[in-house]
Amino acid sequence: MSKKIIIANWKNHPESLGQAKEILESIGNYLGNLEEQSFSLIICPPFVFTEEVAKVLESTSLGSRVSLGAQDIAPDDETALTGEVSGAMLKKLNVRYAIVGHSERRWKLGESDEIVNRKLKAVLRNEMIPVVCVGERERNGGYKEFLKNQIETTFAGLAADDVSKCIIAYEPVWAISTNPDAKPDNPEETIKIFDFIKDTLIENWNFQSEAGTFALKIENLPKILYGGSVTDKNSQDFLSHREINGILVGGASVRKEEFISILAKVA
Ligand code: PGA
Repeated sequence: MSKKIIIANWKNHPESLGQAKEILESIGNYLGNLEEQSFSLIICPPFVFTEEVAKVLESTSLGSRVSLGAQDIAPDDETALTGEVSGAMLKKLNVRYAIVGHSERRWKLGESDEIVNRKLKAVLRNEMIPVVCVGERERNGGYKEFLKNQIETTFAGLAADDVSKCIIAYEPVWAISTNPDAKPDNPEETIKIFDFIKDTLIENWNFQSEAGTFALKIENLPKILYGGSVTDKNSQDFLSHREINGILVGGASVRKEEFISILAKVA
């Protein structure tokens, strides 16, 4: 069985570099005592800490146990874009993964599918691995149609090979812990939606054009993770299913003890 993927999305936390280093230290102490690490761990700090986190990874044993991720990326490489951080800058800091399309950016900051699509292409151009967030705002009658449309526009124009390189994070917006009345999805429902996401991808990346046949094969489908109110109480409910390749953890990833307890359960 392939290793489960755990992504820590620190969002705009913690407040200080000192606290960020404390979180890393706890993770380092925990991982240092593991004989074998049966999961892949990716930490996505806020940009202001990326360089320092990179230094900690480089100078400690964490470097061989944790990969560095970014929470966002500039949509273009060459254009001047005030406030943005380019793929080239991230690459120089050994960032290997970048989240695109997080629901807080889509819904709280108005990021369109078109911008997310440009960011996704920017991650690929800079030879990093995109972690592409998708998810419905409400699980109402039309949610599958919504999801299908979001996937099609987010991945538009990508070759089948590039779709395969992505990790998808299915994060229903209503389940994200910062929303009022948030509650985690039911893992059985999550698995059904993963199947729907896979069907949508296969349907769209299986076509013939003058340039040849482009088919996304079942064995090359992206890995799909679940995110939304994952805690140490429910992480195993999701991870115990073969179909769920991992979890994207927000709030609980900056609560040191709780995050270690999540890792301990996977290990
Ligand atoms: P949460 O956040 O775990 O706090 O619900 C997940 C996310 O927003 O990626």
